[in-house]
Formats: sequence, C-alpha cells, structure tokens
Amino acid sequence: MQDLSSDLPLTFQNVALCAGATKILDRLSLAITPGAPTFIVGPNGSGKTSLLRLCMGLVAPSEGSVRWGGREAVGPGRLAMLFQRPVMLRRSVAANVNYGLKQAGLPRSLRKARMEEALARVGLLELADRPARRLSGGEQQRVALARALAREPELLLLDEPTANLDPAAARGLEEMVLMAAQSGVKIVMASHDLGQVRRLAGEVMFLVRGRLCERAGAADFFDRPSTPEAAAFIRGDLVI
Ligand SMILES: Nc1ncnc2c1ncn2[C@@H]1O[C@H](COP(=O)(O)OP(=O)(O)O)[C@@H](O)[C@H]1O
Ligand SMILES: [Mg+2]
Repeated sequence: MQDLSSDLPLTFQNVALCAGATKILDRLSLAITPGAPTFIVGPNGSGKTSLLRLCMGLVAPSEGSVRWGGREAVGPGRLAMLFQRPVMLRRSVAANVNYGLKQAGLPRSLRKARMEEALARVGLLELADRPARRLSGGEQQRVALARALAREPELLLLDEPTANLDPAAARGLEEMVLMAAQSGVKIVMASHDLGQVRRLAGEVMFLVRGRLCERAGAADFFDRPSTPEAAAFIRGDLVI
C-alpha cells in the first residue's frame, strides 16, 4: 500500500515553466523515486535551479503538473533544500538548527537532542554557540546541512551547494551528503562539477536549454552518452 505521508515518487507530467514569453523549462515528464542520488546536470542557464524550485514547491508549473506521492501539494516537512549560498540567521549555530526544527513543528522538549545529534553528524557540535555568520563558507554550508537533516527529511534538494567552497570544504560536504544518502535520504542535487557527479551520482538528468536531454545511470551517462550534447558536455565543450 502506498504511504500516504510520503512525497515520493515526485512526478512531473508535461511540465513547462515560463517567465513572460520565455520558456525556462519545457515538456518535462519524469519521476524521482527512492534510491541512489539523482544529479541534475547541465550548462549555466539550462534550468537546474528552476527544476529544483519546482521540486520544492517554491514555484508552480505554468503548464502540466507536479505531484508529491500522488498529491498536488508538498507534504508537511518532509522536504528540505540547500542553496548555493547558505542562508544563516544572525544567531548561534545551535539557534539556526533549532529554528529549522521549530519551523518543522517539532516540540520544544525534543529540539535540543535533535539539534545536537545533527551538529554532531556534520562535525560542528563544538561550534554550537558560535555566531553562525562568523563561520567559514564551508562551515556555514555544513550548518545548513545539519539544519536540513535535523528535520529528518525524506527528500533533500541541493542546488550547487559546493559552488562557492574550496576543494577541501567541498569534499567534506560531499562526504556528508553521501552519508545522508546512505542513511536513506533521497538526494536530488544540481551540479556542474563533473568530478563531483562521478563521485556521488547514481543517476544523471542532463538538461539543455530547459529540456531533459538525457537521463541515465551515472556510469552509462559518462561512458555511453546517447546524445551529441551530453558527449560534448562531458568532453568539456561548450553546450549552448
Ligand atoms: N524569474 C525569472 N525570470 C526570467 N528568467 C528567469 C527567471 N528565473 C530563471 N530565468 C532564466 O531561466 C534560465 C534557467 O535558469 P536557472 O534555472 O537558474 O538555470 P541554472 O540553474 O541551470 O543555471 C536562465 O536563462 C535564467 O536567466
Ligand atoms: Mg542554478
């Protein structure tokens, strides 16, 4: 029997997203199901962020439908999203995580333990009392990850979360995303870093100019791309 509280599968049926006369995304039909991480890959401006915003329910499609576990609205508190730049409140690290738990409706008596567990998961428990905005970019992104994971999401959406981090901080965050995936959180992540995609992706959705050009298992995508656009992108050639 289908779990009525689940947001998965997340399905797009013939979805278009328009801004004025421009189609940012067009004719997207796809399903996101539990399993290995799904990566949204494509050149700048191909629609990765817009696709994630639709997945999160932050924007409505201009045409077609998006459904979460068969429902037309996002379920309560099972989705979380990380952005390219972490959004930190001008408060302590602990307060940032607690805020997320409060928003998710977790009773106050349960918040402290959940907050500490989440900060321990990202290796930041020692920094719990520091002002969040004073931390490095990599640490702030880990706080954002802790705030998301503390809510025990079913689905975690990440929009190029390592784009502004140095390689060591980026690899650190990758490890934590991988751990979340291994603990059963469904990961949907946008990236234009092909090394990162090779390291983390179970499957790849390749966007070009707002269309889903190719969808394949990660190994197949890299070894046997089925479109000239994907082959060019993997070679590092400009795809426009
Ligand atoms: N609100 C908007 N109004 C007009 N154009 C937009 C808007 N949001 C995104 N776009 C355009 O849609 C295209 C896809 O953007 P985006 O989803 O941010 O792509 P990506 O994340 O792959 O770089 C870009 O050409 C962008 O300029
Ligand atoms: Mg983007």
